[in-house]
Amino acid sequence: MKLLSQRERFLDYIFYQIYPRSFYDSNGDGIGDLQGIIQKLDHLQDLGVNAVWLSPCYKSPNFDNGYDISNYRDIMDDFGTFADWLVLKKELNRRGMKLIMDFVANHTSTEHFWFQEARKSRDNPYHDYYIWAEKPLNSWQSTFGGSAWEYNEPTNEYYLHSFAIEQADLNWENPKVRKEMQEIIDFWVKLGVDGFRCDVLDHISKDFDNNKRYDGPHLHEYIRELFGRDGVNRLFIVGECQAGEESICALCGQERKELTTIFQFDHVRQHSDDKFLPFAFDLNLLRDTLVKWQYFTAKNDLLYTLFTDNHDQPFLLSLIQPPENLRYECATMLAGLVYLLKGIPFIYQGQEFGSENSYFDDIEDFNDIETLNYYRANQDKLAQKSLMERVNFGSRDNPRRPMAWTAHKADNFGFSTGKPWLAMPTNAEKINLIRDKNAEKSVFRFYQKLLSFRKESDAIRNGEFCDLTGNDGAFIYTRKQMGETVLVVCNFEKAQTLSLPIQGGKLVLCNYATREKDAYNPTFAPFEIAVYRK
Ligand code: GLC
Ligand code: CA
Repeated sequence: MKLLSQRERFLDYIFYQIYPRSFYDSNGDGIGDLQGIIQKLDHLQDLGVNAVWLSPCYKSPNFDNGYDISNYRDIMDDFGTFADWLVLKKELNRRGMKLIMDFVANHTSTEHFWFQEARKSRDNPYHDYYIWAEKPLNSWQSTFGGSAWEYNEPTNEYYLHSFAIEQADLNWENPKVRKEMQEIIDFWVKLGVDGFRCDVLDHISKDFDNNKRYDGPHLHEYIRELFGRDGVNRLFIVGECQAGEESICALCGQERKELTTIFQFDHVRQHSDDKFLPFAFDLNLLRDTLVKWQYFTAKNDLLYTLFTDNHDQPFLLSLIQPPENLRYECATMLAGLVYLLKGIPFIYQGQEFGSENSYFDDIEDFNDIETLNYYRANQDKLAQKSLMERVNFGSRDNPRRPMAWTAHKADNFGFSTGKPWLAMPTNAEKINLIRDKNAEKSVFRFYQKLLSFRKESDAIRNGEFCDLTGNDGAFIYTRKQMGETVLVVCNFEKAQTLSLPIQGGKLVLCNYATREKDAYNPTFAPFEIAVYRK
């Protein structure tokens, strides 16, 4: 048997992203927690994933739901205790599942001890941990709205915050900061974590002279210093980075000891600058972007991440807006389309039963800082109705709404016996795990089949990708390895006749019962997927 390299082994990972606040509440306070995750690990196993990305669970005042960390070495009270985390880790290991932690490197909470000290005086030993200026150095805007510079009275200066006012950017040019960050990484590595998802990692090096807020001149040096070290460079490190072709090679090149892979958003971000402005999602564009990156990563021998959803964007399924009677078909076609490509799958919680966006009339039902800031900034400019339409369309609260586990409204669809921290999805009665599992057409069961096929097929794990799409409105590709060929045929919203480039394989996966009886019928129904293996 061929020995697999570490990198090749990463291709066996199938991740599930958990947003702890909304996953499962074990103690009835309305907030998901670590014990809740522990109690639901059987669900993950049943689904067929073997790795977890845990969104931040550290101490935090939660201005940005945990992405504002006030202590990197302890667990948020809402989520439980350190002992709970240790149990979670042990329970994951027992099931052979990997765990990667979210590592927020660009900024800390302003409640972090470092910042509390830093803001006191210019000669405080921690002052230089952050980025200060007498006057705002530029007109940079915070991602969540407003100036990126905030006045600090005691020192009569401004500090930089690329995100919320309560998230102060760290000064990575200070070697002491880099040392602190290394020690934080080492702390978690010693506890046995399998890697990290690095939040807005490209932001840690800035180029003030050229007015560039990310991807600055020291980015690679800082990353290598942090992750290139022995004992760390064997881990799975995925950076959230807005990288173009050149910089993805630089970040993920095999010998460079920087990152394993990155999250690259080209394929899902089709919106204009204003992400709240409704638009029609184009599946052909999604396909073309994926094809481009499949070839590019193959040519340059890079690992690629496969995902459609996360905690920062509305559910892709909702952007595509399939008619109600085709929700199952669309959700499953999308899953097959993306997760049979070459790369490392990341499934976001709720995707496995076709979760969708919600609609709320009242801004009180929203929590996300970006959404609330957008609302405030546009309150006087837009009519209430159209403003709420935008908010509902683009809000990060959509994927962050608590998981609907059961069909019981009385106990908040199985999420919590208390009042959920954020209103349950408006469609929870219709879209919940139990109901999906009991349905004849179950998204969950499709995911199970898909993932188990992924695991047993060498062609899917490591095979060459080839795009064979002949026309728009479809995506047809093969994955090939040694003697095995897998043909994936995805049809988009309109029924059409497709000419299949390969005949005679065995049908291994489909989302229309009719296909089982007539595997090679050239007419494909709306959102139909058929996968053949030869
Ligand atoms: C990343 C996170 C997002 C967060 C931001 C600031 O983009 O995914 O949720 O708000 O960084 O930390
Ligand atoms: Ca709780």
